[in-house]
Amino acid sequence: MTNEKLDYRKDVAFINREQDFKYLRNYINIRPESILFLHGPKSSGKTTLLYKFFEQIQKEQKLEVKFLDLRETFTNVYEDFLKTFFRVETRGGKKESLTSNINIGFFKIDAAVEKKILEKRADPFKVMKAELLELTRKGIKPVLIIDELQALEKIYLDNDKERQLITALFNFFVAMTKQAHLAHIIIASSDGYFLNTVYIDSKLKKCSTFYKVDYLMKEDVMEWLLNLEKYSKITDYTLTEADAEKIWDTVGGSMWEIQDILSQLFEHPIDNVLDGYKQKMLGLITYYVVQKEREKRENILKRFIHDENLWVIDTGEEDEVILKDMVTNNILYFDPTRAVYYPQGKSYHWGIRMYFESLKPDQRKK
Ligand SMILES: Nc1ncnc2c1ncn2[C@@H]1O[C@H](COP(=O)(O)OP(=O)(O)OP(=O)(O)O)[C@@H](O)[C@H]1O
Ligand SMILES: [Mg+2]
Repeated sequence: MTNEKLDYRKDVAFINREQDFKYLRNYINIRPESILFLHGPKSSGKTTLLYKFFEQIQKEQKLEVKFLDLRETFTNVYEDFLKTFFRVETRGGKKESLTSNINIGFFKIDAAVEKKILEKRADPFKVMKAELLELTRKGIKPVLIIDELQALEKIYLDNDKERQLITALFNFFVAMTKQAHLAHIIIASSDGYFLNTVYIDSKLKKCSTFYKVDYLMKEDVMEWLLNLEKYSKITDYTLTEADAEKIWDTVGGSMWEIQDILSQLFEHPIDNVLDGYKQKMLGLITYYVVQKEREKRENILKRFIHDENLWVIDTGEEDEVILKDMVTNNILYFDPTRAVYYPQGKSYHWGIRMYFESLKPDQRKK
């Protein structure tokens, strides 16, 4: 591996998110009125956007950002949740995030309160509210960010199967935003089904705002690919407009896939890389389809051959099960705000089309 390639791996590009920054800035600058849900396909840049945005805004405003990444934590019992949300205060009590420079806070408690919470003699929600009040009193805006909240779906309060932790949390979030206006609360998730349960819950829907974080737009991808030195510190090679078009045509605005392709271009010609990429997607779709329920899976995916934007809206119950499986396996994305399904990205659409192309000779024989 060349030195430059190593640098490229370390120094990841961050391409235009101006619109999203504008939206978030507006959300932070008005009084907390609702829970903000960030949704969008897998790897559309939700987590990165939040890190970059708060890194920026912490330089401008007095904020206390509590960033809870539930993907990083082992959360399957109530105690894990408590350990993620609450920390016994040590010197400073802050941690610098590994991926960026934002200051991350937790709900700070002393050892005595921790003991009380763990022994269920103190109500964790009251402890959280007290800290939010204290911060607000000091003129500091509290922001609570929860990434991958669906990780808590199977946790119950006091092991009582009737009392889901997530329901209690939502009630708390509604109280802190819409009712008390004490904290900004942002929840990010790429699990469309999980978000759908929120979206169709009439009580929650009134108290939440949904915002989609999508892959990059074409003009931003072109700007990136035609200025590799500026954005990705790549000087070993440059791309022509035609090359950039080909990459867009293969993976669209999906950043991590673009980065994967860029790293291969240090060693291989572009056409080989892109062909290899499409073959890989064909393999992925084929593996998925033939694993089981081949015919049913084919019948669903067939509907996407001609148009990646041909959304499946009317589905029977049986289709619903298959569609759900495709969403779980990240083949399709389910957009909760419109109740539509579509392939996770352009590369998946290639995989689907090539899969049906590959079947053609067999069909002719029949
Ligand atoms: N604005 C950007 N420009 C370039 N690359 C980006 C940008 N935002 C994110 N990426 C890259 O895209 C990949 C996915 O980003 P990220 O993890 O933030 O997405 P996500 O939506 O949070 O994913 P998940 O659905 O898994 O939670 C990462 O490799 C990241 O470096
Ligand atoms: Mg994420």
